Amino acid sequence: MSSSLSHRRVEVAMGDEKYGPKVGRQWSVSKPVEYVLREQRLVFVLVGMAMTSLFFVFLQPVSRGPDRSVPDSTSVGVGGYGGGAFGTEKALEKAPYWQQQSAIVNLGGKIPLGLQRKALRIVVTGGAGFVGSHLVDRLIERGDSVIVVDNFFTGRKENVMHHFGNPRFELIRHDVVEPLLLEVDQIYHLACPASPVHYKFNPIKTIKTNVVGTLNMLGLAKRIGARFLLTSTSEVYGDPLEHPQKETYWGNVNPIGVRSCYDEGKRTAETLAMDYHRGAGVQVRIARIFNTYGPRMCIDDGRVVSNFVAQALRKEPMTVYGDGKQTRSFQYVSDLVEGLMRLMEGEHVGPFNLGNPGEFTMLELAEVVKQVIDPSATIEYKENTSDDPHKRKPDISKAKELLGWEPKVALRKGLPLMVEDFRKRIFGDHKEKGTVNSVNM
Ligand SMILES: NC(=O)c1ccc[n+]([C@@H]2O[C@H](COP(=O)([O-])OP(=O)(O)OC[C@H]3O[C@@H](n4cnc5c(N)ncnc54)[C@H](O)[C@@H]3O)[C@@H](O)[C@H]2O)c1
Repeated sequence: MSSSLSHRRVEVAMGDEKYGPKVGRQWSVSKPVEYVLREQRLVFVLVGMAMTSLFFVFLQPVSRGPDRSVPDSTSVGVGGYGGGAFGTEKALEKAPYWQQQSAIVNLGGKIPLGLQRKALRIVVTGGAGFVGSHLVDRLIERGDSVIVVDNFFTGRKENVMHHFGNPRFELIRHDVVEPLLLEVDQIYHLACPASPVHYKFNPIKTIKTNVVGTLNMLGLAKRIGARFLLTSTSEVYGDPLEHPQKETYWGNVNPIGVRSCYDEGKRTAETLAMDYHRGAGVQVRIARIFNTYGPRMCIDDGRVVSNFVAQALRKEPMTVYGDGKQTRSFQYVSDLVEGLMRLMEGEHVGPFNLGNPGEFTMLELAEVVKQVIDPSATIEYKENTSDDPHKRKPDISKAKELLGWEPKVALRKGLPLMVEDFRKRIFGDHKEKGTVNSVNM
């Protein structure tokens, strides 16, 4: 017995020696490679990698909801996105709204370098107007399909006629105060008369457009899971007591004045957008646009730039309301369109001020117009209109920081481009609507 035990101990000791440190043995790269190939470990590694990739591709988008932890809802907490999600909607019908929303939003994910981004289907309400038509040009140029919805109150077919015949362009005559059903990925909601002459023409219709029209388009966005951008305005700051205006400023607005159909209408539209965002998970974006100018602006729409330019071209005196010391900032339309697109594609709800912080008095603006068009042009003073804001200048630090956006075109560079267009329209064959009264917009 004792001899067999001692014999086994010797065996163990010999065995330990076998697995002990191999003094003097050389390590070589080929051994582990041979082992992996011989034991077919490579197959397991590849299968594991494939399963992990599948997990991230299919499971992650549905499991991520909007970031509900952001207290002021300034971010929806999702990355880039792709559209055309309608095939997936049936499968997701029973999921909670945020899962549906998230799945739609994340389908495309961030686009890897070298891959082409998926073309989107986009509605632009008010797309036959001044800003809308420039936005449509950029979206078409980018490769997207665009549906313009416009009732042609202030918009013109001529602004988008160059896209007729393009299969990626559609134009629908429709008033946004009536519901509309379309299937799209994004909605840019611009439809609204924008100059005082136009919005005061039928104030009831203006506020209806702002409230009922915005409700209809938000309802559509909710139904189809589209992202929604509202073009609000610097007018939400009213006659501001804070200068320059930051997005955090709540404004100084007269709720019963002649401008209220527009100011308060846009404020309500912002409220609706935020309520649809918080309450129904709609991805909204809010832009507060400051005075913008450029080609295709309505001639004689009462906004100060178009007014001065048209008057100087016609050799009429430029009308200044009040003492001309009111200030405004003027943004060239291409800068605005770039800001709107960055906002739509980005991750932040806003609101964002989009405007040029360069501040001009009316008299300084008249001086620039004189230099560009006619040094002999004269000025005529008239009594100011009620509720005309004294100062307007955006603080754009939020847009700079979060959208990486700032205007590039200075007034002296942008104005000649607009003058060229106005010259053609005023002195060419094209006839515009008759002259209307102006205000310092
Ligand atoms: N241009 C600016 O300086 C400025 C400043 C602040 C805000 N905004 C906002 O930007 C948007 C576009 O302004 P714009 O300067 O291009 O004005 P615009 O008048 O040239 O364009 C507005 C468009 O909306 C259309 N429209 C109006 N009511 C409609 C309705 N009920 N249904 C369908 N279409 C309708 C008009 O026909 C027009 O084509 C507006 O919402 C405006 O409030 C513009």
